[in-house]
Amino acid sequence: MDNYDREKELKAFDESKAGVKGLVDTGPLTQLPKIFIRPTDEIANDLDTWQSTSSDCPEIPLVDLRTIFENDREGRDEIVRQIRKASETWGFFQVINHGIQSCVLEGMIDGVRAFHEQDVEAKKAIYSRDRSKKVRFESNVDLYKSRSANWRDTMTIARVTPEDHDFSEVPEICRDRMLDYIKCIRTLGETLLELLAEALGLKKNHLRELDCSRAQTILCHYYPACPEPDLTLGASRHTDSTFFTVLLQDQLGGLQVLHQERWIAVKPISGGLIVNIGDLLQIISNDKFKSVDHRVVASYVGPRISTACFFHGVVDPPKVYGPIKELILDGDHPLYKEFTVKDYIIKLFSRAIGESGLDQLRI
Ligand code: OGA
Ligand code: NI
Repeated sequence: MDNYDREKELKAFDESKAGVKGLVDTGPLTQLPKIFIRPTDEIANDLDTWQSTSSDCPEIPLVDLRTIFENDREGRDEIVRQIRKASETWGFFQVINHGIQSCVLEGMIDGVRAFHEQDVEAKKAIYSRDRSKKVRFESNVDLYKSRSANWRDTMTIARVTPEDHDFSEVPEICRDRMLDYIKCIRTLGETLLELLAEALGLKKNHLRELDCSRAQTILCHYYPACPEPDLTLGASRHTDSTFFTVLLQDQLGGLQVLHQERWIAVKPISGGLIVNIGDLLQIISNDKFKSVDHRVVASYVGPRISTACFFHGVVDPPKVYGPIKELILDGDHPLYKEFTVKDYIIKLFSRAIGESGLDQLRI
């Protein structure tokens, strides 16, 4: 296992600019290339997975948002309570009746599929590791830093803000469907941010005024079917580094959340969206809300499609964040240093996925 030239193979894979789907398509592939195989110590130390067939298997909380659109005060209070509990314990919840039509969600998934399944030359044209690019295709953002590569390709649309009007860089094959989705997800993001602020006991606009949802980065993932799913992962264990994430997945499943030291599968719900707390929200909430580890397992069945919309603060002009004063009660101390999103991101990008953003700021 150790006497192969890993660097060389990583480079060859990267230079193919065709991603994991490119490998699968040139197949037939019966064995995984070594760069994707998880180290044996990592597999041996893996935590248990809760069998989803077992009747006592817990599930991430489900929050029905219907009543907030009906101006029902009591209904809203109940939703805020559910979101508080979920954010303090699981760091994850699933929302239904969120106001986004299923045709928009399905359109987004179909658009992502169409992008990844188009002629490979079109994808190669935008293959890049240059993070300053607004739109790019790549496989494994941390390819050269991680211990093993993930069975996944990704198209990214970075740093979308309300002032953006030129989306000509977004590939035409999925542009309209993506823009529809982004518009809707941004509105939902604002609603969620108000609910999260209330769940922290702050006034409704508090987090919005901190610009926590002003910019979004959207990752459009494609997880091809895998010939040896037990030897690799679709996405390695990690926490999300931004304020919060809204995730759309198809009906195949594969996402797992760490809960009480066990991996728990997130069951896809038709029309549902998954919301999770990121490192920045854990930091500014002074650990009241939890940014929880999650991963995606590989599968013989595929492709699986998902999109993660990360809500992050603005980089320019630099704004100083830190634990919110109102949340540091008598006798408590701030648990994190103050920071700007720009410095935070620079430090984060020099690491492999899975190395938490919390450590760099913890006092
Ligand atoms: C992510 C992520 C999960 C998924 O992009 O950070 O956790 O289901 N994605 O694709
Ligand atoms: Ni994630």
